[in-house]
Amino acid sequence: MNKILILSIVLFGIFACSSDGNDDDPVIPIKVQASFVYTISTVDSHLLFLENTTSGDGFTSSWDYGLGGGNVNDAPGVDTVRYDTAGTYTIKLTVVKDGLTTTATKTIKVDATGICPNGLCSGGGSETLKSAATTFSVGTITRDSYIIAGGKHTETLKADFNNLTSEYQMKMDKMNPSLGKYDFSAGDVIVKFAQENSMNVHGHALIWHSSTPSWVENFAGTNAEFETMVENYITTTLNHFKGKVRSWDVVNEAFEDGTGHPLRNSIFRQKMGDDYIKKCFQFARNADPNVLLFYNDYNIASSSTKRAAIFALVDNLGSLIDGVGAQMHISYNEPSASSIQAVADGTVSRGKKLHFSELDIRANPNNDQTTLTTARADLQAAKFKEVVKIYNSIPLANKFALTTWGVRDNESWLIAFWKHIDWPLMFNEDYSKKPAYNAFLEGLK
Ligand code: XIL
Repeated sequence: MNKILILSIVLFGIFACSSDGNDDDPVIPIKVQASFVYTISTVDSHLLFLENTTSGDGFTSSWDYGLGGGNVNDAPGVDTVRYDTAGTYTIKLTVVKDGLTTTATKTIKVDATGICPNGLCSGGGSETLKSAATTFSVGTITRDSYIIAGGKHTETLKADFNNLTSEYQMKMDKMNPSLGKYDFSAGDVIVKFAQENSMNVHGHALIWHSSTPSWVENFAGTNAEFETMVENYITTTLNHFKGKVRSWDVVNEAFEDGTGHPLRNSIFRQKMGDDYIKKCFQFARNADPNVLLFYNDYNIASSSTKRAAIFALVDNLGSLIDGVGAQMHISYNEPSASSIQAVADGTVSRGKKLHFSELDIRANPNNDQTTLTTARADLQAAKFKEVVKIYNSIPLANKFALTTWGVRDNESWLIAFWKHIDWPLMFNEDYSKKPAYNAFLEGLK
């Protein structure tokens, strides 16, 4: 036995004998073992929640999130960290007590869709909206000027969307600016781009009280001449786009919002009678038996009475109508999932296709926000996920498309048209993806 070993045994003996619980005993440093757990946010898969689970007290702790920022103090409660860039990150928790240091590390993987659960990334990080939505089209709006300008707008269209709607250039006042005169030039630009990139085009909208040209509002001829004019307009338009446009909103927003939801007293109703909608569908069907015909309206989820009025119209149109366009101008906190589900159920039970058209989700419906906070962006994302989940759950035969009314927040009509402060879409102004984007993908799982 060597001397060091003997000394150690003696010292241990003294130490062990004196350790009798007396208050005067020297304090032995207790080493606490650093430990933590993490969870991935269910609404934004780029967010990681870190919880320090080290037991004991009187220690200090710090995190290295693996993002190159070095050590930061561990704040009380759960730490939330954002991982936007694909890669592998080692997270380290350092705990110090009485001069003794322990660490715990975990490694996470991040791909384009967010933090990979259990380190398993699916799809190699190449998932986009349209590649993930395999059973329906993902649509958005565009303009001829955006397509001609190219750049990030068209890159984003190509990456994520496969069903294009013209924001306003395929409405009557643009396409039929005066009697017998047609201008399909903007629609042609959109159609050409769509064809080159294997996308569909949804025609929007043949008849809409808000885009009626003044020459139609002030039509001087007889009712019969008015009806012939409308038939000519619908026939000419559908013939022009035959084989290039997959679907049309034949009539848009025909019902009033007030009690009983009467038909709006538009010039079309005044001149053609209460069955003007049916007549327009018949003109469209005669012009092109293959194109899909939709009726499109708003508040169909939030108002059960308007929903009933719309479904009564659908029943009346029978086989003339192929699908229901439910404009989804909604908010992060309403309408409820069950109201949205009721739109899906009513459409499916009638054997019609469902278009969740014009989706934008207001993050600031009460105008009490000046920036999009993380909390509000997450709530908005949760609503996107809910909408996609409901849509994705309907039978295949009823699926058609889910269309957002805009690509990036700053271009939303809510800002330009309504002057609201809001961030209602899935892309930021710089085309970076918001939590809503990943929520859309999550809704498909
Ligand atoms: C809006 C466009 O976004 C605006 O740019 C335009 O000035 C007015 O129309 N319901 C519809 C869409 O069916 O056609 C509307 O689009 C938004 C409300």
